[in-house]
Amino acid sequence: MPPRVLTGDTPTGQLHLGHYVGSVRRRVEIQHTHECYFLLANMHAFTTRAEKPDEIRRDTLAIVRDYLAMGIDPVKSAIFLQTEVPAISELTYLFAMLLPFNRVMRNPTLKDEIKVKNLGENYSFGFPLYAVGQTADILAFRAHSVPVGEDQVPHIELTREVARRFNQMYCGISDQAEDDDHEKLGGVFPVPRADVGPIGRLVGTDGKNKMSKSLGNAIYITDTLKDIKKKLAGLYTGRQTMTEPGDVKNALFDYVRAFVADPHRVAELERRYAAGDNIGDGHVKAEVADAIDALLQPMRERRAKYENDDALILDILKDGCRRANAICEETLSRAKDAARLKFFDRVIGYR
Ligand code: TRP
Repeated sequence: MPPRVLTGDTPTGQLHLGHYVGSVRRRVEIQHTHECYFLLANMHAFTTRAEKPDEIRRDTLAIVRDYLAMGIDPVKSAIFLQTEVPAISELTYLFAMLLPFNRVMRNPTLKDEIKVKNLGENYSFGFPLYAVGQTADILAFRAHSVPVGEDQVPHIELTREVARRFNQMYCGISDQAEDDDHEKLGGVFPVPRADVGPIGRLVGTDGKNKMSKSLGNAIYITDTLKDIKKKLAGLYTGRQTMTEPGDVKNALFDYVRAFVADPHRVAELERRYAAGDNIGDGHVKAEVADAIDALLQPMRERRAKYENDDALILDILKDGCRRANAICEETLSRAKDAARLKFFDRVIGYR
């Protein structure tokens, strides 16, 4: 059996290169060797934007187009809607009972979001609940591996705790059991691992913050070479001349490592930059811009194909939801059985 993978994105607009480098690139690779499920967290989008349902719906469909453009193959990988997999909501409710409220609120990613989004004390009840929901997203699939960017690791840590606790409480797994043995010993849930790629966090073109739509420092698939050059021009390194030894740990070189395809060329650029060997930031930026443009070209072409075809996107989603429900209903049935909540069998389907 190939290892099972679940990951996803909250619909907040178009995906950008930060998503690609942090997680989507990895997904495109592993879909050939792993059983992959990619979730559109459209319910999570309501935690902070409940008053904008039309936007959320539009953004949800836009992500599917971006996935396809970036190279995800909907035949190999199931792309599906969180809101069409009822087992996820049901497990969320149950898992919420296994977590102390204070434990949920200690999650650094939640705390950070409250700060960055200026939520203050005014966040909805559903806002912290989404962290519990994310554990259900993952565990409903009994996923082994979760490809994510660095910022998501606290959520995966919470997920691992829920899996252990459930297995200990309802499946007779010892609290001494190794994480990797839970499934083998009869636990309903494997204890999943975060799979953070070599570049877990891509800096935005401001050179400071994580690439993010809301900060206006992102590069999109639909950007032209000219757009890309303009955005990179604003990336400040503080270096003045072509002979000044440069710091290859700066944001510009994160881009070099993320996008220049040939590793020999990356090594050469690093060596010359560090030595101040007659190489300007402008040279490096031009090369990075070309590399990004070359990466995006086939994506733009694929994206154009899907641009106006909502029916095709909906077909892909319906197929993904069927595949997702097949596995999640099985998980829910086992979990209910373990927690003595199983009374009948049921079937979920779409017309
Ligand atoms: N919270 C993730 C984000 O905003 C999206 C997400 C929802 C997710 N459920 C998930 C990621 C399950 C990995 C696994 O990017």
